[in-house]
Parts: sequence; C-alpha cells; structure tokens
Amino acid sequence: MKPNELKLVYFSPTGTTRKVMMEMAAAIRMKSVSYDLTVHKEKKPALHFRENEFVLFGVPVYAGRVPASFLQYFEDLSGKGTPAAVFVTYGCREYEDALLELKNEVEARGFHVIGAAAFPVEHSLVRSIGLGRPNKKDLGEIADFGVQLKRRIQKEESFDNIQITVPGNATYKKPGPFSLVPKADATVCTGCGNCAKVCPAGAISLKEPKKTDKKKCISCQKCVRVCKEKARHISKIKYNMLVNKLNKVCQSDKKCEVFL
Ligand SMILES: Cc1cc2nc3c(=O)[nH]c(=O)nc-3n(C[C@H](O)[C@H](O)[C@H](O)COP(=O)(O)O)c2cc1C
Ligand code: SF4
Ligand code: SF4
Repeated sequence: MKPNELKLVYFSPTGTTRKVMMEMAAAIRMKSVSYDLTVHKEKKPALHFRENEFVLFGVPVYAGRVPASFLQYFEDLSGKGTPAAVFVTYGCREYEDALLELKNEVEARGFHVIGAAAFPVEHSLVRSIGLGRPNKKDLGEIADFGVQLKRRIQKEESFDNIQITVPGNATYKKPGPFSLVPKADATVCTGCGNCAKVCPAGAISLKEPKKTDKKKCISCQKCVRVCKEKARHISKIKYNMLVNKLNKVCQSDKKCEVFL
C-alpha cells in the first residue's frame, strides 16, 4: 500500500532537530501531523501507526546515543509494517551508536526503515561548534533526502527488498557520568515558571522553579534558552572544561550522511 499520510515524531529541546524535520517534511510535500515528544508528560500517549502512513523519526544525539527520555515514548508505539525513515542531528563530534539504536528501536516496533541520515549541526552545549548549521548547503541536502524518500514511497509497491545499513556498534556505548545541570541564580530568577513548563524531563519544580532535580535533568539546555532573565547557567568551571574538550574533538565542517 502506498502511504498517503506523513507523521513526524521527534524530540528537540533546543529546536535544531525540529528545524531539520520541518525542512525534510516540506520537501516530501504531504499533509503531515507532528508528534513533538519534547513536552514532558507523566502519562505517555499511545502512538499507533498504520500501513498507509509514512513516519519520520528524528532525535538529537546525546553522548553517542538516542536520548533516553525519547525512548520512554516507545513503550506504547507500534507500526504495522509502516514505512519509516530515521535521522539524528549531532553537534559535529560523532553520532556513534545513536542512528543504529534509533533504527533498531523503530524496527523492533513494527516499522520498515526505508532511509536514514545523520546531520551535523550547531552543538547545543557549545554553540560556537558548527555555528549556524544547518546552513544553506545542509538544508539543501536535507530537502534532497526528503525528495528521495518521497520518490521511494511513491515508486515501490512493496518495501520488502529494502534493507538500510547504518554505522554503529551492536553493543551500544555506555552513557558516562555526564551531568551539566543548569542552576537558577536566585537573585535574578523572577519565579515565572517558564523553564519548568518546558523542561522535557520534568526536572524543574513548577512551585519552586529555582529548584532542579539533578537526577531527572538530561542537560538538554532548553531551560537556559527559554529563560528571558538569563537566570539559568551551568557551572562556569564545568562549562569551560567542556569547551576545551569539545574544541579538540569536534569538526565544524563535518558532512551530512544519508543511507538509502
Ligand atoms: C546532553 C547532550 C549530549 C550531547 N552529546 C552529543 C554527542 O555525543 N555527539 C555530538 O556530536 N553532539 C552531541 N550533542 C549535541 C546535540 O546532539 C546537537 O546539538 C543537537 O542538534 C541538539 O538538538 P536539538 O536542538 O533538537 O535539541 C549533545 C548535546 C547535549 C545537550
Ligand atoms: S524561566 Fe528564568 S526567571 Fe522564570 S522561573 Fe525559570 S529561571 Fe526563573
Ligand atoms: S532542567 Fe535539565 S532537563 Fe530540564 S530543561 Fe533544563 S537542562 Fe533540560
């Protein structure tokens, strides 16, 4: 069955993955419905897709893996041989096992992956790395990926002969003791609660937004970006250490990779 509905499932705390997703969707030119899973929900919604739908899954890479908060939504996710494409955005370091992990998780829930891609972009922790990416050239390649996916779903009667291979290790990278929890400066914070409302991990107390639960925080930096008072920061010492480390291992001119 040829798909006639496009569904966009993504996680994007600082908006880059969403931007890539929208560029791709615009190139596919089908009526679409978005499932933005960046919004924290105690009760996860049921996500069940049919054969006549084409689903795009997009996530940022966190420490070489798919963000665990996104995978929580996979508990009630299913396809019925539904064609899908998967992509990751990453901050010009490496995407390691993230694309393979996303593909495996999607396939394990009844989807048939017919395309995959990894897009190097601005690093959400250290924005000078990959600054301004996706740039015009990247957006062209992202749109082209969308066009190729569209051709594939329109042409193929059956996707049985399509097998996509992506880089990554079968034993995924173990997440390290990584923690860059932003703290609110009590002298600047007005207590407006905007950071608490948008935190994808539910780590900030709505009643007392100056308090952050370190165990729940996934270091995504969304709260830092939304705070108009600029009250939220990660520790200067930790941040400077991270900048030094990432400047050595990231390459701002990394290329987009597609797997079709
Ligand atoms: C907690 C965290 C971990 C990250 N780990 C990696 C990584 O392992 N490799 C990499 O190249 N970029 C890494 N990044 C950068 C993001 O993958 C990249 O900036 C992504 O596009 C952010 O997506 P978003 O804007 O949709 O939130 C990391 C960012 C954060 C916040
Ligand atoms: S968004 Fe900023 S000012 Fe508002 S509660 Fe959060 S830290 Fe305080
Ligand atoms: S508290 Fe942590 S998880 Fe929540 S928005 Fe801020 S960085 Fe992201």
